[in-house]
This record gives sequence, C-alpha cells and structure tokens, in this order.
Amino acid sequence: MDILVAGGTGFIGRHLCAELHDRDHDVTALARDPDNETLPGGVERSVGNVTAYDSIAGAFVGRDAAVNLVALSPLFEPGGGNEMHDRVHRQGTANCVEAAETAGVDRFVQMSALGADAEGSTHYIRAKGRAEEHVRESALDWTIFRPSVVFGDGGQFISFTRTLTPPGVAPLPGGGRTRFQPVHVEDLVVMLADAVEDDAHVGETYDIGGPSTLTLADVARLVREARGETVRVVPVPMALAGVGMTIGGLLPGVPFGPDQYRSLQLDNTTDDNDIDAFGFETADLTTLPTYLGVSDRQAGVV
Ligand SMILES: NC(=O)c1ccc[n+]([C@@H]2O[C@H](COP(=O)([O-])OP(=O)(O)OC[C@H]3O[C@@H](n4cnc5c(N)ncnc54)[C@H](OP(=O)(O)O)[C@@H]3O)[C@@H](O)[C@H]2O)c1
Repeated sequence: MDILVAGGTGFIGRHLCAELHDRDHDVTALARDPDNETLPGGVERSVGNVTAYDSIAGAFVGRDAAVNLVALSPLFEPGGGNEMHDRVHRQGTANCVEAAETAGVDRFVQMSALGADAEGSTHYIRAKGRAEEHVRESALDWTIFRPSVVFGDGGQFISFTRTLTPPGVAPLPGGGRTRFQPVHVEDLVVMLADAVEDDAHVGETYDIGGPSTLTLADVARLVREARGETVRVVPVPMALAGVGMTIGGLLPGVPFGPDQYRSLQLDNTTDDNDIDAFGFETADLTTLPTYLGVSDRQAGVV
C-alpha cells in the first residue's frame, strides 16, 4: 500500500513509519519540518501544516491509506495558548479528513487519546473528542485509536515524569494518585499497522492500555529506581489548586498551566482494553518496569 503518515516524524510516527516500511509498504511522513534524520531509510518526506488545507491536500493524492498522528503535546502549555489544541487537533483533523476524501483515499486511521470527549475538562481532551466527530462523520473507512500514555525510545512520558519528580521529595497534585496504563510504542504500532492493512477494523474505536495500571507516583519511583535513586511523593493540597495554583509555580521554567494541572488529576485508564482485537493479551505487552530494566516487585508495582 501507499501510506501517508501525517505527524510521521514524531515519537509514535517514527516507530510506525519503520513498522509500515518493514511490512513493505510505500511510506511518506508529512510534517511541518520533516528533515528528520531519525526517520528510517526509505521513508519519503512531505512538507505541510495541517492547519493550512492547501499545504497538505496534494500529499494525500494517490495514497491508499492515511494515518493522522499530528500532535500538540498535552504535557506542556503550547506556544500560542491552549486554543492551539483546537486548531491543530480538531481543525487539523478536519483538514486531513477533507483532503483524504477529496483525494479518494480509502483508509483513514485517526490517533485520538483515552478519555477524548467533546465536552471534556481540558482543551486537549475536547479537541481530541471533536476531532473524532469529524472522522466518524466522514465518508472514509476509518479506525480510531484512543491509547493511554505511550512510552518508548524518543517518547516524552519518562523524561516528563523525571522533570516533575526530582530525586528526594516531589510535590504532586493529589499525591500522584492519578492512574495510567502506559503502553509501549512498539506494541502500539503493530496495532496501528494492522488497522491500516485489515478492513476488519473499519468503523471501530479502540481504547488501548498497557499491561498494568500505575499511579503517577509509581511511575516516578520506577523512573528513579532505574537510576538508582529514590523519590518521596508528597501531595500538593487540592485547596491550592482550587485557587488557581499551578505546578508552574513549583517548577520554574516548565510551561505548565491550569489545563496541564487538571489533566494530571484525570485517570487515564480503560476497563475495556481493546488489545484483543489485534490478538494481544496483556502478558504479550512490554511493561514499563521491563523497559526501564527494573523488576515489578522491586518497584512495588501491583
Ligand atoms: N505520546 C503519547 O503518550 C500519546 C498518548 C495518547 C495519544 N497520543 C497521540 O498520538 C499522536 C502522536 O503523538 P506523538 O507523541 O508521536 O507526538 P509528537 O512526538 O509530538 O509528534 C507530533 C508530530 O506532529 C507533527 N506536527 C505538529 N504540528 C503539526 C502541524 N501543524 N502540521 C503538520 N504536522 C505537525 C510534528 O512534526 P513538526 O513539528 O515538524 O510539524 C510531529 O511529526 C497524537 O495524536 C497524540 O495526541 C500520544
């Protein structure tokens, strides 16, 4: 197949381009600045900005499938403000959908996020929910993925946790009790590539979680354990959050606003993990402790 991966130079995009290329597809990565040396050899590059329709329309012509992985990280407040989430995630998706329809692209795989909700409590979650609506209302053969946090080589989750929780004592909203189901990028891209290839996934929305549920405090301890360090997580009083305190005040230089603070208090787990739609069981998936080279028992993970 001839496949366009919008956002193909990003963290998940680079791994997906490699997976699709290994499966003998013709792969093109679209991004604003695709001169990315970490793209696997043989992957073509295309320049475009999903917020500007005319800059991307041509890239969809002649493709059999498109994957939309364009992202603005929810971990930090974007330059231009949180309204940028609507422009990039919702309007950008609408533009990709229109470009795919106009070009006659058959398959469209949309990367959303666990908890995506058009009426949700953060700009990121709302934009993701509204983007899903554009995809569902389209004439495309679509599949939507909603993963929990994704970890792996080149990802931000581990480095972000490290920044948030330095060794020693780390103050976190709610004492770091927010729950995640981290999934390894190499497991996720197998599912994404299967969804591109197999019509059985058309019209499906998949919640995807990793093999175990971890609190942010668990992740912080694992990340420190991997470096032979320890961390004690202490709660930031919720009352302070209520009067508008943000973690930016605790971590000078980190662009952290109320949205980011709020999202750190939202559980990011699913009771309906859809990994079985791709023939996976939880035992098949890479755990975060294994990736970090730390044993589950040693790190106190349940
Ligand atoms: N990583 C996670 O833990 C996680 C969890 C759940 C869902 N997701 C979702 O998975 C997808 C991929 O995430 P990721 O972590 O791989 O993101 P990422 O590493 O930040 O990559 C973002 C990609 O989008 C491109 N991009 C950004 N703005 C663009 C624009 N206006 N026009 C065209 N391209 C643009 C970037 O390249 P340029 O900057 O050069 O344009 C890059 O290729 C996103 O939809 C994200 O919301 C990620």
